Amino acid sequence: MMAKPTMILLLLSAFFILTSEACPPSCECNKNEDLEKVNCTGRGLSAIPGDIPASTTDLYLQQNKISSLSPEDFVNLVNLTNLWLDENSISKIDDNTFQNNSNLLLLSLNKNKLIELTNGTFTGATQLVTLKLEDNPDLLVKKGTFQQIKSLKHLYLSNTSFSNTDNFGGMENLNELVMDNNHVKDVSFLSSLSMLKNVHISSNNISKIPLGTFDSNKQLQKIYMDSNNIEKLEPGLFSTLKNLSYIALENNSIQSFTRDIFNEVTNLSSPEFHFNVSKNLINCDCNMKWLASTKIEGQCFQPNFVKDFDFSNMSLTDYQCGPTSNYSKDWYTVSEGGNITVYCPILIDPLESIFWETPVKTISGSLPLTDQSGDIYILGTGDLKVQNAKMEHRGVYHCTFGNRAGELRKGPFFLDVDEESTGSGATILALSISLSVVTIVLLFLLFFRFYKRFRVPAEHRYQFLQENPDDGATANISE
Ligand SMILES: *[C@@H]1O[C@H](CO)[C@@H](O)[C@H](O)[C@H]1NC(C)=O
Ligand SMILES: *[C@@H]1O[C@H](CO)[C@@H](O)[C@H](O)[C@H]1NC(C)=O
Ligand SMILES: *[C@@H]1O[C@H](CO)[C@@H](O)[C@H](O)[C@H]1NC(C)=O
Ligand SMILES: *[C@@H]1O[C@H](CO)[C@@H](O)[C@H](O)[C@H]1NC(C)=O
Ligand SMILES: *[C@@H]1O[C@H](CO)[C@@H](O)[C@H](O)[C@H]1NC(C)=O
Ligand SMILES: *[C@@H]1O[C@H](CO)[C@@H](O)[C@H](O)[C@H]1NC(C)=O
Ligand SMILES: *[C@@H]1O[C@H](CO)[C@@H](O)[C@H](O)[C@H]1NC(C)=O
Ligand SMILES: *[C@@H]1O[C@H](CO)[C@@H](O)[C@H](O)[C@H]1NC(C)=O
Ligand SMILES: *[C@@H]1O[C@H](CO)[C@@H](O)[C@H](O)[C@H]1NC(C)=O
Ligand SMILES: *[C@@H]1O[C@H](CO)[C@@H](O)[C@H](O)[C@H]1NC(C)=O
Ligand SMILES: *[C@@H]1O[C@H](CO)[C@@H](O)[C@H](O)[C@H]1NC(C)=O
Ligand SMILES: *[C@@H]1O[C@H](CO)[C@@H](O)[C@H](O)[C@H]1NC(C)=O
Repeated sequence: MMAKPTMILLLLSAFFILTSEACPPSCECNKNEDLEKVNCTGRGLSAIPGDIPASTTDLYLQQNKISSLSPEDFVNLVNLTNLWLDENSISKIDDNTFQNNSNLLLLSLNKNKLIELTNGTFTGATQLVTLKLEDNPDLLVKKGTFQQIKSLKHLYLSNTSFSNTDNFGGMENLNELVMDNNHVKDVSFLSSLSMLKNVHISSNNISKIPLGTFDSNKQLQKIYMDSNNIEKLEPGLFSTLKNLSYIALENNSIQSFTRDIFNEVTNLSSPEFHFNVSKNLINCDCNMKWLASTKIEGQCFQPNFVKDFDFSNMSLTDYQCGPTSNYSKDWYTVSEGGNITVYCPILIDPLESIFWETPVKTISGSLPLTDQSGDIYILGTGDLKVQNAKMEHRGVYHCTFGNRAGELRKGPFFLDVDEESTGSGATILALSISLSVVTIVLLFLLFFRFYKRFRVPAEHRYQFLQENPDDGATANISE
C-alpha cells in the first residue's frame, strides 16, 4: 500500500516528464517560446543530470565537478544549441557523445582537464560553429578531429598542448582561430583556411613564416603572432592580403624587413593600419629608411647610437649605413697649371663628415660641400679638386669619410705633377733629343749587360770546356 502523498508526487512527476516540463532539482529551467534555458551552474554536480528537459536549447553546466562525458548524456537533447561545460574536471569525452546534437552551435569546454580529442569525439555535431577548448593544459588533438566539424567558424585552443597542425585540412568555414600559448612551430597549414579573418598564434614556437603561407587567406584582417621566435619576414609575405589591418609581431627576433612584404596599395601611414614590431632586433640601418614615412610601431635594437629609439622618434638621417668602399684609382698625373679630380671611393649613407690629407694641408669639408674656392677644395661628391696644379701638390693624398655608424680612411692616392705643361716646338724638340740620348744610353747599357752575362769569366770558361769538351764551339760563339 502506498501513502497518498507519494502517489500524488509520482503522478505529478509523470505529468512533468510527459509534458517535458520537468526540471532537474539542482537546476533552474526557464522556458520562453522555443527557447528552454536550463541553468545548472555551480551546483556541485559530478555527472550530467539525467532528467534535463528534451526541449532544452541552452544548457549551463559550468563550475561543477563533472569528470567525463558519455553518449547517454545528451542523446535526448535534439534541440540543444548552446552547451557550456567550462570549469569542470572533464578529462574524457567518449566517442559519439554528441551523436544526436546536430543542432549544437556552441560547445564550450574551457578550463577542464581534457587530455585527448579524436576523430570520434564530435561525430554528429554537424553544425557546430563555435568550439572553445582553452585552458586544458594537457590537451592533445588527434589527427582528423576537426574533420568531423567542418562547419566550425570559431575555434579557441589557447593554453593547451596543441601542436598537430595537420588537423585543419578542409576547414573552409573557419573565420577565427585562437591558439595562443601552445607549441605550434609550423604555420603553413594556414594556407588551407580560405575564410580566415583573424588568427592568433601568440606565444608559440614559430621560427619562420614560409612565403605563400597567406596566399589563399583573402579575407584575413588580423594576425597575432607576437612572442614567438620569428627571425625573418620574406618579401611578398603579406602582399596578397588586401584586407589586412592588424599585424602583431612584437617580441620576436626580426632584424629587418623590406617595404615589399606588403602590397604596394597597403597604406602604411593610415591610422587604421596597425603593424607592431616592438621588442624585436631591428637593425635601423639605411635600408630601413622607408619606416620613417609609415606608422609602423617598434624600436631600433641597433646600431648603438639609436638603440631603443622608437621608429616614431627617428628622422630620415638617423637611418645610417656605415662606410665601405670599392676599388678606386690610386695614381693620378696632371700637368703643371692643369686641373684634376682625385676620387675618394665613398660608399656611405648618409655622408656626414669628410676630410682630405694632402701634401699642402688637411682640408675638412663642411657639409653641405659648397665652398669651392682656392686651389684645392672638396667637391659635393666628397672628391678632391686640385686646380692650377703646382709642384707642391705632388705627393700622397688620403680621404677620410664617415657618419655616426663609423669612419673610414682611404688612400694613399699619388698625384704626380708634370713640370712641362704646354709644349712649344722648342721644348718638344729638346724633349725628343734628350729622349733619344736616354734611349741610346739605355740601349748601350742593355747591350753591355747582355755581353757581360754571356761572357763567362776565364777560370769558369776553362772549367766549362773541361766538363763539356764537345761543346767548345757553342762556348766560343758566346765569346
Ligand atoms: C545561472 O545561475 C547562476 C546562479 O546560480 C547565475 O549566477 C547565473 O547568472 C545564471 N546563468 C544564466 C545564463 O542565467
Ligand atoms: C525541437 O524543436 C522543434 C522546432 O522548434 C520542435 O518542433 C520540437 O518539438 C523540438 N523537440 C523537442 C524534443 O522538444
Ligand atoms: C535521437 O533523437 C531522436 C529524437 O529526435 C530519437 O528518436 C533517437 O532515438 C535519438 N537517437 C539516439 C541514438 O538515441
Ligand atoms: C578515425 O581514426 C581511426 C584511426 O585512429 C581510423 O581507423 C578511422 O577510420 C577514423 N575515422 C574517421 C571517420 O575518419
Ligand atoms: C592562458 O594562461 C595564461 C597564464 O598561464 C593566462 O594569463 C591567460 O589568460 C590564459 N589564456 C586564456 C585564453 O585562457
Ligand atoms: C621550440 O622548438 C625548439 C626546436 O625547434 C625546441 O627545442 C623547444 O623546446 C621548443 N619550445 C617549446 C616551448 O615548445
Ligand atoms: C574586406 O573587408 C570588408 C569589410 O571589412 C568586406 O566588405 C570585403 O568584402 C573584404 N574584402 C575582401 C577582398 O575580402
Ligand atoms: C616574449 O616572448 C618570450 C618567448 O619567446 C616569452 O617568454 C616572454 O614572456 C615574452 N615577453 C613578453 C613581454 O610578452
Ligand atoms: C594614407 O593614409 C593617410 C592617413 O589617413 C592619408 O593622409 C594618405 O593620403 C593615404 N595615402 C594614400 C596613398 O592613400
Ligand atoms: C605594440 O607592442 C608593444 C610591446 O608589446 C606594446 O607595449 C604596445 O602597446 C603595442 N602597441 C599597440 C598599439 O598595441
Ligand atoms: C627620442 O629621441 C631622442 C633624441 O632625439 C632620445 O633622446 C629619446 O630617448 C628618444 N625617445 C624614444 C622614446 O625613443
Ligand atoms: C681649371 O679650372 C679653372 C676653374 O674651373 C678654369 O678657370 C681653368 O681654365 C682650368 N684650367 C685648365 C687647364 O683646364
